[in-house]
Amino acid sequence: MENEQSIQQRRTFAVISHPDAGKTTLTEKLLLFGGGIRTAGAVKSNKIKKTATSDFMEIEKQRGISVATAVMTFEYDGKLINILDTPGHKDFAEDTYRTLSAVDSVILVIDCVKGVEEQTEKLMQVCRMRKTPVIVFVNKLDRDGRPPFELMDELENKLGITVRPLTWPVGMGRGFKGVYNLHESNVYLFQPGKTVVEEHRLLVDNLSDPQLDQEVTKTAADQLREDISLIEGVYDEFAREDYLSGDIAPVFFGSALNNFGVRELLETFLNLSPPPRSRETDLRTVDPGETAFSGFVFKIHANLDPRHRDRIAFLRVCSGVFERGKSYHHVRRNKDIRFSTTYSFMAERKNAVDRAYPGDVVGLYDRGDMVIGDTVTEGERHNFQGIPNFSPTIFKEVVNADPLRTKQLEKGLKQLTEEGVAQLFIQQPGRRQIIGAVGELQFEVIQYRLREEYGAASSMKSLPYARACWFTCDDREARETFRRFREHQIAEDKHGRPVYFAESEWMLSSIMRDNPKVTFHFTSELEGTGVTRESLAGIGGSSRR
Ligand code: G4P
Repeated sequence: MENEQSIQQRRTFAVISHPDAGKTTLTEKLLLFGGGIRTAGAVKSNKIKKTATSDFMEIEKQRGISVATAVMTFEYDGKLINILDTPGHKDFAEDTYRTLSAVDSVILVIDCVKGVEEQTEKLMQVCRMRKTPVIVFVNKLDRDGRPPFELMDELENKLGITVRPLTWPVGMGRGFKGVYNLHESNVYLFQPGKTVVEEHRLLVDNLSDPQLDQEVTKTAADQLREDISLIEGVYDEFAREDYLSGDIAPVFFGSALNNFGVRELLETFLNLSPPPRSRETDLRTVDPGETAFSGFVFKIHANLDPRHRDRIAFLRVCSGVFERGKSYHHVRRNKDIRFSTTYSFMAERKNAVDRAYPGDVVGLYDRGDMVIGDTVTEGERHNFQGIPNFSPTIFKEVVNADPLRTKQLEKGLKQLTEEGVAQLFIQQPGRRQIIGAVGELQFEVIQYRLREEYGAASSMKSLPYARACWFTCDDREARETFRRFREHQIAEDKHGRPVYFAESEWMLSSIMRDNPKVTFHFTSELEGTGVTRESLAGIGGSSRR
C-alpha cells in the first residue's frame, strides 16, 4: 500500500533539447517552482559548456558539482518529481541516451527561431523507439520565431510524431502578448522579466469576449480566433492515452527565460505524465508494484575526489522498495552485495537515503563493482533491457608514454570506460588498447583524467575506422574464416565479445555481403525492437562518414 501510493506520486523524466534551445533554463525554472533551488543560476552554473573542445578543463572543474544535478528531486502539488539531467554537449550523447532508459517520460524543448535541429531529431528517434511519452515545449516566444503552424508541421515531418497543441501563442517576438490555453479557454498574459514567477491569468469565457481585444489588441485577438478555429478543425481531440502510448505529443509554448508558460507546462505535465511504468527484462516484464526490489545502473560517476577512488553508481529503482544496508543480488557478478552508503538528490544537496521507491534514483557508493547496465534484485536472475551500448564512430589506440606506469594506465582506462565516457576494446596479439567514442572531446577528457587521476601519461593514435559492430555466427567454419581474414580489424569489448571495426559504411556493406553467415549488430541492446540498421546508424551523436 505504502509502495503503491509512492509509485502514484512519482514522476521521473528528463528535459532534452538541441544545445542552446533552453533545456538548462527550463529545468532551472521548474526547480524554482518546486523550491528545489532557491536562486536562479544554480543549475546554469553547473552546465557543461558546449562550445569548444578546450572546454574539457571546465568540465573537469564542474564534474564534482554536476553530480549534484545528475538527478534533481523536488516536490510540487503532492507529487515527487525526479528530473534526470542530460549533458547538452553532443560528444556526450551516449550518456543522454542511457539516461533516457531510466525515465518514464520526456519534455522536449524546441527553440522557436531554429525549429527542429539535428540533436532534437536523434533524441526523438530514441524516444520513439521506446515509445516514451513526450511533451514539447516551444521556447523563446519573446523572440521573432517561425510561424507556429510552420513549426507544428516541421515537428511532425522531421520528428515523425503527431503533435497536438494544448496552448497557442498570442503574437510572437516583440508582439508576443501571451498564451491561450485551449483546454481551459483562458489567456495568460505575458510580462517580460526574468524574475516574474506568477503569471497574470486573464479569464475569457470564450474567444469572442471583447476583453481579449482590449488586453492583447484587436489584431492579435482576431489572429488568435482564426488560429484556434483552424486548430480545432485540423487536430483531433486530445486523448491522454495517445500521449501515454507515445503516439501523440502535446505542445506548449512559452519563454523559459521569462518564466512564462512554465507553471502551465509543469501543472499539465503532472496531470498527464505517467507514474513509474513496468520495465522489460530478459526473462519477464517487471511491474513497479511488485514487492521484491529491483533496479538497474544507468550512470556511473567516478573519482569525485581524486584522493579517493570513490564512485557513485546511479541506480533507477524499478520495483519494490530499496532499503539501505539490506543484502541484494548483483546479477552480473552473481554475488550478494550490501549498500551502506546511499544518496538521494534533493534541493542542491546530496542526502543519505534509507528507502527509495520505484521511479527514484539512488546514488550508490561503489568501490568498482558496478558497471553501467548492471541489474540489482532481491535474488531473481534477470537483466533489465534497453540500456544502449552505442556503436562508437571515432577510434584511437592508447599509446603508453611511461612504461613504469603501465598498471595505472590499464586501471585508469578500465575505470574511466566503465563510467560510460567511451568504450574500451582489447586487440590481440599484444593487448593493444583501443578506445571508441562518439566525440573527439571524450579522448581529451580521458587523456587528461588518466594523467591527473592515475598519474599515467599517454598519447592517442588515430585509427582509420568509422564503425564498430558486434558480430555473431553460429557456423563455426564461417566464423573462423571471417576472423582469420579480418584479424587486424577484430578486437574484444569489455565482456570479451568480438567486435569488428570497419573503415567506412561502404566497406561494411561489402563485408556483410561477402559474409552472409555472420550477423552484425550495431548496438548490443536495441536488437529486436523492430529498429532498422539505418535508423540506428545515425544515433551515435556524431555524424556518419
Ligand atoms: P541549453 O541548456 O539547451 O543548452 O540552453 P540554455 O538554457 O543554456 O539556453 C541557451 C541560451 O538561450 C541562453 O543564453 C539562455 O539565456 C537563452 N534562453 C533560454 N530561454 C530563453 C527564452 O525564453 N528567451 C530568450 N530570448 N532566450 C532564452 P546565453 O546567452 O547562451 O546564456 P546566458 O548568458 O543567458 O546564461
